[in-house]
Amino acid sequence: MRLGFIGTGNITAAIVEGLGGGVVLSPRGAAMAADLAARFPDVTVAESNQAVVDQCDMVVLAIRPQVAEEVVRSLRFRAGQKLLSLVAATPVEVIRGWAGLDLPVIRAIPLPFVADRRCVTPILPPDAEVAALFDRLGQAVECQSQMEFDLLAVGSALMGSYFGLLEAAEGWLVERGLPEAAARDYMAGLFANLGRVAEGSGKPFGALREEYSTRGGLNEQVFRVFGEAGGVKALRLALDQVLERVKG
Ligand SMILES: NC(=O)c1ccc[n+]([C@@H]2O[C@H](COP(=O)([O-])OP(=O)(O)OC[C@H]3O[C@@H](n4cnc5c(N)ncnc54)[C@H](OP(=O)(O)O)[C@@H]3O)[C@@H](O)[C@H]2O)c1
Repeated sequence: MRLGFIGTGNITAAIVEGLGGGVVLSPRGAAMAADLAARFPDVTVAESNQAVVDQCDMVVLAIRPQVAEEVVRSLRFRAGQKLLSLVAATPVEVIRGWAGLDLPVIRAIPLPFVADRRCVTPILPPDAEVAALFDRLGQAVECQSQMEFDLLAVGSALMGSYFGLLEAAEGWLVERGLPEAAARDYMAGLFANLGRVAEGSGKPFGALREEYSTRGGLNEQVFRVFGEAGGVKALRLALDQVLERVKG
């Protein structure tokens, strides 16, 4: 199965890195394409988007939503091909309509962690070939419904808040006199260890919160004050609003 990418930006680069090469790239994003072709075996840069389509069995749409319709409508696909769309908030039926051919269209939400083959990637609908691709890059999650996929897309939108929480805590520590390097190293190490516990323990998050919060202790106090001041409510409100957006 020959894999080709329309759009050679950040997410394409991360996927190629994780796969270790063996793909066809479109020419836009020229510097990134040249860099990937130089670093990985069997990576070629086609002379046009159409040339990518012509050379590949599975075409990955890795372009921004704003240009997706124009780009896809300009391409001629052939029977037997499969489209893998990374374009957010755009249902498979819409992509299929733009492609103008009754092709299988699968959506996926890969994140930059595919580069280290550590990404959990939702796909919709279930598809053995696409699942095998993302299993190589970590683990595929085959969603059974649009709602499951949309909910995981909302989950993926928490990355900025993870770093925002670190940023806020670091800023508070530094403002009160802790050297920046100490604050940064301490918070990053703490969150990295907690991430490993969250991933590996298999316990419910609520149970972990209790386990890591001595009754009447400091950790319990922080989360209680956070909730009382509207922190949890604000998080849920943001998730509600993002869900409306990803539903398209
Ligand atoms: N980055 C992520 O973590 C991530 C995760 C999941 C999904 N996605 C989705 O994946 C898509 C790409 O994201 P990205 O972060 O990789 O964006 P990006 O870094 O901005 O890359 C977009 C690429 O598309 C190229 N492009 C623009 N117009 C084109 C055209 N007419 N034909 C072919 N290529 C064209 C750009 O080339 P130029 O530089 O020459 O303009 C650029 O190389 C988006 O829909 C995004 O929502 C991204």
